This record gives sequence, C-alpha cells and structure tokens, in this order.
Amino acid sequence: MNMTKIHIFDTTLRDGEQVPGCKLNQDQKIVLAKQLESLGVDIIEAGFPISSPGDFESVRAIARTIKDSTVCGLSRAVEKDIEVAAEALKEAVRPRIHTGIGTSENHIKYKFKSTEDKILERIKQSISYAKKFVEDIEFYAEDAGRTRNEFLARACQVAIDAGATVLNIPDTTGYCLPQEYGEKIAYLAANLTGLEHVVISTHCHNDLGLATANSIFGVINGARQIECTINGIGERAGNTSLEECVMTLKQHPELGFETNIRTQLLHTTSQMVSHEMGMIIQPNKAIVGSNAFAHSSGIHQDGVIKERSTYEIIDPAEVGVDKSSIVLTARSGRAALAYRLKELGCEVTKLELDALYAKFLELADVKKEIGETELMFLAENKDSIYADYAK
Ligand code: KIV
Ligand code: ZN
Repeated sequence: MNMTKIHIFDTTLRDGEQVPGCKLNQDQKIVLAKQLESLGVDIIEAGFPISSPGDFESVRAIARTIKDSTVCGLSRAVEKDIEVAAEALKEAVRPRIHTGIGTSENHIKYKFKSTEDKILERIKQSISYAKKFVEDIEFYAEDAGRTRNEFLARACQVAIDAGATVLNIPDTTGYCLPQEYGEKIAYLAANLTGLEHVVISTHCHNDLGLATANSIFGVINGARQIECTINGIGERAGNTSLEECVMTLKQHPELGFETNIRTQLLHTTSQMVSHEMGMIIQPNKAIVGSNAFAHSSGIHQDGVIKERSTYEIIDPAEVGVDKSSIVLTARSGRAALAYRLKELGCEVTKLELDALYAKFLELADVKKEIGETELMFLAENKDSIYADYAK
C-alpha cells in the first residue's frame, strides 16, 4: 500500500508556550527545537516574533540553528507583524510565515467589529505582503471551527489566490465534533480551486477532549498537515497531542498515512518538554504518561505476563519506554507477585507463593503500592513467612 505523508507541524514553542507558567528562555527554546528536529518534526513553529523582544530573539536563534525542519513564525494579518516575523526568520534555511485572522461571525463581530468583506480584503493584503518576504506562507482562519463553511471557503480561496501555500483550519475553541470537523475539511477540499500545491492543515484545541480525534478526522478527509504540541500542552485544555496523532496513524496503517516522526524519541522528548516547562504529565496521559504501560489489576497482569499484546496495543520500545511495568497493589494477583519476585532473583514454589501472597495482601491493604522495599522484605523472609503460613 502506498502511504501518504502527513506533515507534523509542532507548535509547542508557540501555542504550547502560551500556557501560564510555561514560559521558556532562549536557551531552553533552542534545546527543545533541536530535540524536535531530531524527532523528525517537519515544521517547528518557533514563536510569535512581534510579541516580545525575547520571542523575536528566540525565533531568530532557532532559525539560525535548525537546518532540517522548516522554521515558522506567527504573525497577525498586520504589516508590522509580518515584517518582524520575516526579519526573525531571515537566516532560516526553510522559513515560513504563519499569518491570519479570525473568520467566525463571533470574531468578526466582537473582536474586529468588522465585516466579512473587510476581513477578506485583509487576508488578501496580508498574504500578498508576506509573499514579498518568503515563498512559504501559511494562512490561518482563526476560529474556523465555528466559521460557516461557505465563508471559510471564500476566505481560503482569497488566501490561495494571494499565494498561500498552506491553509490552517483551527478549531480554536475546541468546539467541533470529529465528523463535523472532518466534513469541514472535506468541504474545503471539494470546493477550493488551486489546491494542487497547497496543503490543508488541522489545528485543534482540546476543550472537549476531542483534539486528537478531530485531527485524525481532518486527515481522513483531506488534511495533510497536523498542528500539535508535545504532551498536548497549550491554551486552556491544550492543543492536539503530537504523540497521540503520530501513534494513532502508526497503529492504523490501514488508513494509509505515515509521518517522519522517529517514535523511539517520543518518551525522551515528552520528558524534556515537561522538565523545561515545569509542567507535569498526568500519569494516565496516552503514550507518554507514567501509567501508559503500567498494569496493576490481577487479570491484566496475568495476561500481559503471558503475552504483552493481550492488554497493550503498542510495544513500549516503539515510543522509547524500556518496558511495560507490573505495579503491585491489593488488586494484583499471584502471577504478578511471582513475576516481580523473579525479577529480584527470588524464585518460589507454588506453596511458597501462596504464603507470600497472603502476606503481600496484608501489606497491600494498608499501602497503596508495594514497592521494592516490601518485595525485598518478602523475598528475604520467604522461609519464615512460609513456616508461619504452613502451621
Ligand atoms: O488556535 C488558533 O486559532 C491559533 C492560531 C493563531 C493559529 O493558535
Ligand atoms: Zn491554537
């Protein structure tokens, strides 16, 4: 089967960094940009150059450093923003300016106090202006998720005609249902002209927990770029998570899509972002959470010990995790206890295991988790525990 390439556009350093408390300094941004490049990200959105002198310098430094990925800078549909973005990107091997404006009735009425026609004129002017500086121009239609499809298509057509190379369709408020978002992308793919050399991109926020599903539906319906962040960080409930999208496409080859991401680097990259931004990863976070490959109930543990695939769809090594873990709690069974004891070099007979398991349950009922210390205690006192049990 011929696989279609999906470009991964990472906005951890721009949309992700907008999160309060996640601000990065220039050195941290460069460290993460290099990691994203190693990960195989196609486009790195490095920042919003006009937003502050610090961000301008960071984008400039990243543009100078990164050679393999396209480096992108955000701007509003404002000439000064575009000039500053172009200046920051001047030394990039592959520069991209990302510019746009709100297109929903809500944004046009309340944010811009403007009209649809005036918005279309600003799109034309800003894309044409950006085109004077760089070839690769991405247009974003902010709040596209709540924009009527007919008007969204008009806005995108103006952008294409003015020279946009990528059309970003953000579900800025995380409002859409997967099918609805997919239909929006399909509508654009069917109704725009001149799309031969233009890529449609998803950019979904996670207010309803649907960002990954919406991005995948976007791709199924014609999008060829996904905008996302590591660990799904971003404004409010966050952006689409890079690791979730990439692994969903990888786990479902029947969809016919592939990415350039070196998935073995996902775990390390996730840890680095969490560390640099001081943002903890929820333990049950898909792919990169500490519990993503941990099994604690007896039934699951027994299955995984017999054959990993009974309860795991991804081999942890594929995403850079050493191995699945068997966590011992009061819900664990004998198989898990024997497995963990064996890891410590303590082999037990069936009768010994019965005795140790009874003692284990006593301990596990008072402790949330049985760790190495308690396991060592059981292993070292195996004989006396068995003797007491056999009395
Ligand atoms: O969510 C959004 O609409 C954005 C745009 C600025 C691309 O982040
Ligand atoms: Zn966004």
